[in-house]
Amino acid sequence: MALNIIIGTQWGDEGKGRVVDLLAAQADYVARYNGGDNAGHTVTVGEKTFKLHLIPSGVIHPHTIGVIGNGLVVNPAVLLQEIEMLRALGVDIHPERLKISHAAHLITPGHLALDAAREQARGAGKIGTTLRGIGPAYNHKAERSGLRVEAMLHPEEFEHAIYAHIEDVNQHLEKLYNAAPLDARKEAQIYTNYAAQIAPYIANTSALLHNALQNNTTVLAEGAQGTLLDLDHGTYPYVTSSNPTAPGAFVGLGLGANHLGRVVGVTKAFQTRVGEGPFPTETEGTTASQLRGTGANPWDEFGTTTGRPRRVGWLDGVLLRYALHINGVTELTITKLDVLSGLGTLKICTGYRSGENIYADLPLGPTDLNYEPAYEELPGWGENIMGTRRWDNLPAAAQYYIQRIEALCDIPVTMISVGPEREQIIQR
Ligand code: GDP
Ligand code: IMO
Ligand code: MG
Repeated sequence: MALNIIIGTQWGDEGKGRVVDLLAAQADYVARYNGGDNAGHTVTVGEKTFKLHLIPSGVIHPHTIGVIGNGLVVNPAVLLQEIEMLRALGVDIHPERLKISHAAHLITPGHLALDAAREQARGAGKIGTTLRGIGPAYNHKAERSGLRVEAMLHPEEFEHAIYAHIEDVNQHLEKLYNAAPLDARKEAQIYTNYAAQIAPYIANTSALLHNALQNNTTVLAEGAQGTLLDLDHGTYPYVTSSNPTAPGAFVGLGLGANHLGRVVGVTKAFQTRVGEGPFPTETEGTTASQLRGTGANPWDEFGTTTGRPRRVGWLDGVLLRYALHINGVTELTITKLDVLSGLGTLKICTGYRSGENIYADLPLGPTDLNYEPAYEELPGWGENIMGTRRWDNLPAAAQYYIQRIEALCDIPVTMISVGPEREQIIQR
């Protein structure tokens, strides 16, 4: 039937995993198309909480087939651990249910060491990466010296290739960064062992998905990170090294654009960011503490992958409009509306101020965010809305908040999430 794409419209952690889990009930395939285990997607089903980094969030539904597309960089150690974690939680992952693209790239301990060395060398100008080796692995891919997953199908050559790769990385570590070298022989053996375990999962996932779409199935593409972390369209250089935006799904899955169905933008009711980089609507003080939480609730704003406290602020309507245009979003899901309960007067950034002028759009996109936000104030509500399931039962101020987003961005909000659980959703 169609390829539906789920993307984050902000700086990641919008609740994409939770929304993918919801929509996967009606999908046959769920496919990740970008990034690696820098992602942390949380899905809560009853008593169980799944924190997924590489495997698509939709695999928790037993009828789905998970795909790791060619656009990813895969750390095999993390992948194998995640398969075990899912099995321990009762989700049976086996080669019939999970397919890994032969053309995805591998992350090695060499990439992890380079990520750490480069961040240290950047000093005050650091990006604040997740230190998962993402940038260096994509760097090798673009430089044409990367290791593709398909190399695992030829164990002897693979062992040599890993050995040569680690030796090469060691040159950089020692000579450029004065960092300790890695044991190339040991890593080559460890990776050869991973290869034997991962080989049964390797497939031509582009052909698989293409055929599936020809046969009238539904494919859900799960973006990792978010629009403002996109390598080309985000707050460069404070971005990740892949294309999380919706068009990235075509390249990252090896599919043509003719199959496109819905593009669902996932937007948190406020703004968060983890890592360095500009954040015009960032707030501090009491409002920030209330938005972030203390860590007592599982959904409080502390990174799923790194545990770092997330920076928080008011919803940025200027950046949201930008994200809708870059992705071609057809509908929005607003998550964490419940977190705004009891906050008093709310704000949405509707423009950027420069001297006497207020801009509704960004002249150079989000690369230059050196502006003062102009806010619209909206009434808050005190009620706990985590138990609300119908639009009509939301407090009038909560309805108004959603309606203002729709009007400011000219987009329908089709789902509103009021808690991390599957059923804590309001469909419109
Ligand atoms: P992702 O990276 O976009 O998948 O988002 P994360 O999983 O990193 O962060 C979202 C967090 O918020 C997770 O802990 C979710 O369980 C939680 N969450 C998602 N939607 C809601 C919601 O509507 N309300 C609340 N309170 N928590 C939510
Ligand atoms: P999900 O999929 C939030 C951020 C890092 C850093 C920058 C570059 O859970 O939304 P990287 O390790 O990718 O080179 O780091 O990108 N970052 C994320 N922030 N959510 C994510 O993923 C992120 N993945 C990377 O914090 O600022
Ligand atoms: Mg996350």
